[in-house]
Amino acid sequence: MRILTGIQPSGILHIGNYFGAIKPVLDLQGQGEVFVFLADLHALTSSSNGAAMRENIRTASIDLLACGLDPEQTVYWRQSQVPAHVQLMWTLTSVTPMGLMERMVAYKDKVANGLSANVGLFTYPILQAADILAYDADLVPVGKDQKQHLEVTRDIAIKVNEAYGEGTLKLPDAKISEDVAVVPGLDARKMSKSYGNTIDIFTEEKALRKKVMSIVTDSTPLEASKDPDSSTIVDLYRLFASPEQVQQMKDEFRAGGVGYGHFKQRLFEAIWEYYAPMRTRREEILAKPGYVDEVLEEGARRARAVAEPTLERVWQAVGMR
Ligand code: ADP
Ligand code: TRP
Repeated sequence: MRILTGIQPSGILHIGNYFGAIKPVLDLQGQGEVFVFLADLHALTSSSNGAAMRENIRTASIDLLACGLDPEQTVYWRQSQVPAHVQLMWTLTSVTPMGLMERMVAYKDKVANGLSANVGLFTYPILQAADILAYDADLVPVGKDQKQHLEVTRDIAIKVNEAYGEGTLKLPDAKISEDVAVVPGLDARKMSKSYGNTIDIFTEEKALRKKVMSIVTDSTPLEASKDPDSSTIVDLYRLFASPEQVQQMKDEFRAGGVGYGHFKQRLFEAIWEYYAPMRTRREEILAKPGYVDEVLEEGARRARAVAEPTLERVWQAVGMR
């Protein structure tokens, strides 16, 4: 069983990324061959600042290791260090119908949100398909928002197989983590860097508390009963606390007499404690200069050993060899 996913190094990791993308993958470590890469070429489609990009890649590469990515168990590399991704992508562009790309919701959303429509953004799903297909991945754990990209990946693989022979590419399955499908942000919308409503994992204690305290709540008075089922505080607390602790908080919500500030403080403590071991590991990694680059270099070597033979197989099928 080969499990593969890509994480965009598009900024500082937040709780949504962690529960939506990182944790589900880390939980699979040891259950198969796990492949995780930093999708730096994808991030490039929404960037115009080289220094910021370099810094984002550095931060993300460290943070994933700090979160528990084990380079002994998992192949971990940077997309741009394995040329086969782009080489396979170009091959796939030649079988991908325009209509398929024009239906992509993520692209339409980004344009609607004011991102300029560059061609990279448009062809983004084809690069993603190449990322997956180059490794003959069986399973791709992703957030709900990536469902369509996975469907397109299968569609493209089917097209290739129809044109050039069954078995040219392997059809992957998506693994959508339904229970934590969408982590809400400070304003109850989906937590996202682009909404500026994130709670970041590796922040200072004071800054983290301030963030949690800024969760938007309604104006129910302190003494009144509150609805736990429509509360961002409870929804987030669920991710960090035991079922008993969550039940306790819900009961206190309903009972009244406790203000939102108190619940936020409890949520803050749970988050701070949860990430304590990861903060420690992060410090350890930062104390070893060159370590992260070595890990990624070795990962790229192992990734190339898998992706290059796939590319050869496809090039053989399409007549480039
Ligand atoms: P952002 O929306 O902050 O820009 P990305 O688009 O870089 O985040 O997402 C990186 C990964 O994290 C994706 O797999 C995505 O599905 C997941 N993810 C991001 N935000 C959330 C969220 N609020 N809930 C669940 N998963 C999320
Ligand atoms: N598009 C994905 C995201 O924004 C990142 C990604 C790129 C990816 N290539 C991938 C995820 C391949 C899974 C498999 O989250």
